Amino acid sequence: MNRTPILSATTALLAALCAAPAAAQSGPDALYLRSLAATCANCHGTDGAALAGQSMPRLAGLQSVYISEQLKAFRDGKREATVMHQLAKGYTDEQIAALAAYFAAQPAK
Ligand code: HEC
Repeated sequence: MNRTPILSATTALLAALCAAPAAAQSGPDALYLRSLAATCANCHGTDGAALAGQSMPRLAGLQSVYISEQLKAFRDGKREATVMHQLAKGYTDEQIAALAAYFAAQPAK
C-alpha cells in the first residue's frame, strides 16, 4: 500500500495549521478581531457598549487614538488601574491598534 498521499495530506494540513496564527497576526481578519474584542466583553459589555449606570467604562465610540493611548499607558504602568494594567500586558502594539479601531467603530448605545 502506498502511504505517500496520506503523509503529504497530513503535512499540508500541519503547514496550514501552523501558518494560520501568523497570518491572523499580520493582518487581523474579521473573526480574529471579533474574538480579540470578545475578551473585553465580560467587563466592558458586548462590543464595548457598557450599559448606562454600569461602573465599567464604555469603549464603543471612543476615539481610536484615545483607546490605544490608554491601553499602552496601562501596559507601561503610566496609568494606574485596578485590573487593566495586568490585562494590557498581554497585547502587542498591533493588537492594541486593532482593538482600538474596532471599538472606535462600534456605535455608542
Ligand atoms: C476584568 C474586567 C475587564 C476586562 C476583561 C477588560 N477591562 Fe478594560 N477596564 C476595566 C476597568 C475596571 C477599567 C477602569 C480602570 C481600572 O481600574 O483598571 C477599565 C478601563 C479601560 C479603558 C479606559 C477607558 C477610559 O474611559 O479611559 C480602556 C480603553 C479599556 N479598559 C480597554 C479594554 C480592552 C480593549 C479590553 C479587552 C482587551 C478590556 N479593557 C478588558 C475592566 C476590564
